[in-house]
Amino acid sequence: MQERGTPKILVVDDERGMRELLEILLLRKGYEVCCAANGRDALELFRSSTFDLVITDIRMSPVNGLEVLKGCKAIAPKTPVIMISAYASTEVAVEAMNEGAYDYFPKPFNNEEILTVISHALRSRDEDEGSARTREGPLYFGCLIGESPAVQKIYESIERVAKTSSNVLITGESGTGKELVAKAIHRESSRREQPFIIVNCGGVPENLIESELFGYKKGAFTGAVANRTGLVEAAEKGTLFLDEIGELSPLLQVKLLRLAQEKTVRMIGGTEDIPVDVRIISATNRDLERMVMEKSFREDLYYRLNVLPIRIPALRERKGDIPLLAQHFLSKFAREFAKDIRKVSSYAMDILCNYDFPGNVRELQHIIERGVAMEASRIILPDSLTLSMYKRRQHEGTGATNAPAELPGQGFDLDQHLAEIEKRLLQTALQQTNGAKLKAAQLLGITFRSFRYRLLKYGLATEDELSSSDN
Ligand SMILES: Nc1ncnc2c1ncn2[C@@H]1O[C@H](COP(=O)(O)OP(=O)(O)OP(=O)(O)O)[C@@H](O)[C@H]1O
Ligand SMILES: [Mg+2]
Repeated sequence: MQERGTPKILVVDDERGMRELLEILLLRKGYEVCCAANGRDALELFRSSTFDLVITDIRMSPVNGLEVLKGCKAIAPKTPVIMISAYASTEVAVEAMNEGAYDYFPKPFNNEEILTVISHALRSRDEDEGSARTREGPLYFGCLIGESPAVQKIYESIERVAKTSSNVLITGESGTGKELVAKAIHRESSRREQPFIIVNCGGVPENLIESELFGYKKGAFTGAVANRTGLVEAAEKGTLFLDEIGELSPLLQVKLLRLAQEKTVRMIGGTEDIPVDVRIISATNRDLERMVMEKSFREDLYYRLNVLPIRIPALRERKGDIPLLAQHFLSKFAREFAKDIRKVSSYAMDILCNYDFPGNVRELQHIIERGVAMEASRIILPDSLTLSMYKRRQHEGTGATNAPAELPGQGFDLDQHLAEIEKRLLQTALQQTNGAKLKAAQLLGITFRSFRYRLLKYGLATEDELSSSDN
């Protein structure tokens, strides 16, 4: 359950064994890892994503480690780059250090040593960035996407709140990014080197949450065979993130009030009050104020937890962020699925921007993930967007054959738009004729030859399929 903002590391080496070794070492330490087998791929990854640190081999082709170093420094000068090489040469080492490398390791290196240097490098980078709003690439605070006025306000709140140790209450519909904001606050605060502990207060039986939170003394109940420290104590000097706080039972509300008021915890079965220093960030998608009025949430606890409120607006209230988020998730999943898809077509984007997203950012993320998985061409076309959503638009009378109501100021691509309409019509014709291609061609008023050509062009059929069926 313990979690800090997970640093993301790029490992570059042409030797598979070395990549795997580093990957295992780093994953075990809880880092997120991406690997590249040469400098060219590494720079491409580095350009399209944000990394906290790079470890690169020196002798590689195409594009060697020194060029990776220079490239990374040009894109994100503060990201530490650690060099490793089997062909230790002082000259190259000096050159690397002059170019701004953080450190240099001849292979084989000592695992513990390199892990220590990595942890120092990451810390020095954090300190460098201080607590001012950090932005690299499209990401704010290393994890948040969005530039609408509504989220700018949230960024300001994160900065303000990070400077204090007061309790924070984050509200917002499901999938709006409450957990991400909580992590960003922790990472920006002076507690960043201390634990960030997540406790989900919903969907877990009361007695289980209680023992998780406060720990227990040996013999406190059947099965308590030894003393166990709770998560509150584990968060000492760090941040305790209480998710779904609106689900807390009345008994736990009382216990939490004691923690919020007295800053002490008492283990189950214990007699002594242990002082703790934790900042509590809570989150909920419920209307706590109303719950207070209805007396299902304690008013005193509400005020203790809600010292600094942050409300995250639903995605439909900040539609300006949709294209940025969509593009971000597209790059992420294209990379994950190793697909060369770089763009959401303008018409597909138009559909997304007109959608309500009841599941907020999480839903958009899933739609793009499925879109990338399904798409056979190099751009996301409307057909690859979640079907239920697409149908909904069609019912509203704005299917793919209609032009967008307004043309965007820039970035519209007529050919691409027409191609989408054409593809859609081909599919409709095939559906109407139950897949009989000759009839479908007639329906569209084109020759069979032309129809076949278009099916291939849009990936609606393969050569094999076409040659195995003659209509
Ligand atoms: N501004 C954002 N930038 C990038 N990713 C985001 C943003 N907001 C949300 N996400 C992504 O959307 C998903 C949902 O976010 P998160 O879990 O923080 O939401 P939540 O508000 O805690 O939802 P729930 O109420 O369901 O727990 C995550 O995968 C998160 O990474
Ligand atoms: Mg959440």
